[in-house]
Amino acid sequence: MGPANPAPPATPAEAGPGADPDRWWHGGVFYQIYPRSFADSNGDGIGDLPGIISRLDHLAALGIAGIWLSPVTVSPNRDWGYDVADYCDIDPDFGTLDDLATLIREGEKRGIRILLDLVPNHTSDQHPWFVDARSGRDAAHRDWYVWADPGAGGAPPNNWVSIFGGPAWEFDKASGQYFLHNFEKEQPDLNWWSDEVRAAFDHIMRFWWDRGVAGFRIDVCNMMIKDAELRDNPPATEDDPLDQQFMGVKAVYNTDRPEAHDILQRWRHIADGYDTTRLLIGETNVEQLSTLMQFYGNGHNELHGGFNFVFINAALEAGAMRAIVEEVEATLPAGAWPIWTGSNHDVSRLATRWAGGDPAKVRCALMILLCLRGTPFLYEGDEIGLTDGPIEQSDVRDSVGLRFWPYYKGRDAERTPMPWSNAPGGGFTTPGVPTWLPMADPAQCNVADQAADPDSVLAFTRRAIGRRSQNDDLAVGAYRSLPSPEGTWVFARGSATVVALNMSETAREISGLAGRISVATDRALEGTAVDGTANLAPWSGVVVEG
Ligand code: NOJ
Repeated sequence: MGPANPAPPATPAEAGPGADPDRWWHGGVFYQIYPRSFADSNGDGIGDLPGIISRLDHLAALGIAGIWLSPVTVSPNRDWGYDVADYCDIDPDFGTLDDLATLIREGEKRGIRILLDLVPNHTSDQHPWFVDARSGRDAAHRDWYVWADPGAGGAPPNNWVSIFGGPAWEFDKASGQYFLHNFEKEQPDLNWWSDEVRAAFDHIMRFWWDRGVAGFRIDVCNMMIKDAELRDNPPATEDDPLDQQFMGVKAVYNTDRPEAHDILQRWRHIADGYDTTRLLIGETNVEQLSTLMQFYGNGHNELHGGFNFVFINAALEAGAMRAIVEEVEATLPAGAWPIWTGSNHDVSRLATRWAGGDPAKVRCALMILLCLRGTPFLYEGDEIGLTDGPIEQSDVRDSVGLRFWPYYKGRDAERTPMPWSNAPGGGFTTPGVPTWLPMADPAQCNVADQAADPDSVLAFTRRAIGRRSQNDDLAVGAYRSLPSPEGTWVFARGSATVVALNMSETAREISGLAGRISVATDRALEGTAVDGTANLAPWSGVVVEG
């Protein structure tokens, strides 16, 4: 045996997934859809809502409880939906409000609920609020955005820099003031000190709650509100943790302000007042787990869940991941629930970034996501081990990739269309139609072929999710690290289930395992008994139920 790992205090077991309707999502698995790239119903090379509806059975067969839809609201697509020009209507590329209603209804029939993406930090510069704000200093919506007079010699008002590069300020000649944009200049930041902005978003949330959405994923929710005095960010020093140094400054005044919590608590209050099944999941892109925990409030009054970017950015390495999970388990407020993710539309897909295309590593990564205590969010394609798509410079559609190629190639590779089959068009679109981003060769990896192969990654993912839905230990049981050799990760879930992973290049003996293997990265092991010790092949894992 290897060195013993410190065992954090066990978290209390909860009632099973079906027992408490308010916690319907605790034992469930969510699935992120990037709508432009999921399924194209009308042959324009762009995915749409009817396309998603046509593929719901795939998600039902997978055992998905909820979908997070990246934005489907009206957008000029400077940032592909994350620049919203109308928060209460559907972009014609994707369909209509009726299509969304059909998706919600058809999802319900299959036990799948829908989370929309809410983008409160900024709007599109084409949103009527900003068009009005820009029309003059006395405009009704002027104060809905962050305006400031030039600094000395006409310079930007302070030293804040945009996440997407360059100063975070754009000069508006007509009014002689700058406006703030933490992303593209076509994405002006809203002024969250304004009561009118707060009221407008209360209305937007209610608009969608009324239409039956289950909740929201909230874009950059840690960034919404800025320092009221617009103070300069301090220079980063060598002593600052690397992850807090951003282009020479420490971004403490244009992000992670404490007042963001007031807004999130206000929304939680509205959500709970509505009914207690509604969910708020935040894009909490913070670098410290202690900061992430703050977004859970007291465990009951802020976000229901926050994406864990410390975990997303970790290496697929047993010790590193176990340490993150142990810290989360030890510091999460009582009653709060973790979220685990390996891919999304902003980071290289897990099959590439974590697994380097190796299916054995993909299975281990999926086993981790699906067996930890918490709600996993799979990203479209994770379930088949889809790797990043082939993007040449001429294919780039992401503004950040256009700006920084070849130093940073942007986010298109993780947004390429979903390969449904090896038919022409990959089952994504009509044969012969060019897709908005190139599709990886569907002969290499597609849903239909994997659905027919019991040894595929898809078949493994289905089995793992299926077992989770039948075993309360896996769904909601307490997590406890167990001692195990270097390069392995062994943990107990609930009272009678143990998950053992060998994340190393050589076979490893794991002792202390007794019971029956219910799920294994190697299907041949499923159903076999373990009596004490299991010899795990490199990059493999088993779930043992006692
Ligand atoms: C986070 C989103 O996930 C990303 O795609 C977007 O570019 C930024 N927020 C700005 O909205």
